[in-house]
Amino acid sequence: MEAELQSLVQQAEAGQDSISTWPELADFKAGFVGPNGSLTAASKGIAKLPNEEKPVFGKKINEVKQRLEKVFESIRERIEATELADKLGPAVDPTLPVTDTEQGTEHPLTQVRDRIVGIFRKIGFTVVEGPELETEFFCFDALNTPASHPARDMQDTYFLPDDFKLKGEKRREDESFILRPHTSAVQIRTMTKRKPPVRILSPGRCFRRDTVDATHSANFHQVEGLYVDSDVTIRDLKALLDHFVRELFGSDAKTRFRPSFFPFTEPSFEMDVQTSKLRKLSGKWIEIMGCGMVDPNVFGHVGYDPDEVSGYAFGMGIERIAMILHGIDDIRHFYQNDLRFLQQFTGD
Ligand code: PHE
Repeated sequence: MEAELQSLVQQAEAGQDSISTWPELADFKAGFVGPNGSLTAASKGIAKLPNEEKPVFGKKINEVKQRLEKVFESIRERIEATELADKLGPAVDPTLPVTDTEQGTEHPLTQVRDRIVGIFRKIGFTVVEGPELETEFFCFDALNTPASHPARDMQDTYFLPDDFKLKGEKRREDESFILRPHTSAVQIRTMTKRKPPVRILSPGRCFRRDTVDATHSANFHQVEGLYVDSDVTIRDLKALLDHFVRELFGSDAKTRFRPSFFPFTEPSFEMDVQTSKLRKLSGKWIEIMGCGMVDPNVFGHVGYDPDEVSGYAFGMGIERIAMILHGIDDIRHFYQNDLRFLQQFTGD
């Protein structure tokens, strides 16, 4: 009897490899534990045994049943694994990159910023960054724009409450912390720390109290430049900017300087560019930046001697340059994160 039970286990173990589908498994199981199965039949024999042998035999039957269950379970796992592998297709390498997620690209403003910065870096400008949260001193006073000066309106911005404190930054009693309206503040910070010659570029985010419309945003980006040395002239400034626009817009691009006013430059100009390369704007003069010769009063604020040094400065909005280059008609597109817009800038 015992040998018979033992042989059931051997039969199951020997036969399991030939089972590869669910119906086959069902038949296989039925052959042992179904109503007409061999184990079922063997266990009926218990009735004929003397009472004292019944518990031992019952235990044996249970052991065999458990061993058979193990065989059935391993067949089940194998069938499931095969089914899953069929669904997944050929061998899966989980270390490969996923194929169905889209790859992001640099934001068009980042691309244009890098292009602008790249042109100036090639000719010796160093990039310097500064804080977005500034004091009035760095944004206005040191730039020859005292509190009473009407030119502050041009760059009106957001003021923090009087009791606002910033670790590591000091402010005078009579000035406030503000969100910087231009990156010219970085130029002051740099000049207070370094001796001339200074040749820097300061890209970064700026803020102004502007009502948002197609061409204004309260939050925008600038690149400003500064060069201070002995004997820097307007001619140097013009030559630099001519080179810049030809690199950015194409070799036929021309510049035009119109007189303007900024408190920190004297004389000051608005610079226009004309090029045939831009479809809609072809042949038109387009204003792209403010510039001028650094006002001697600014040098006074940073401890430079205006009799010894001279310099030029310029500043432009990255959004504006990007809009001109790509023919974009509304500044708000840059901040809406609409993929239909962003996906048009997948390679520059
Ligand atoms: N800071 C000026 C602005 O934000 C731009 C500028 C920079 C003009 C340097 C002249 C010289 O409008």
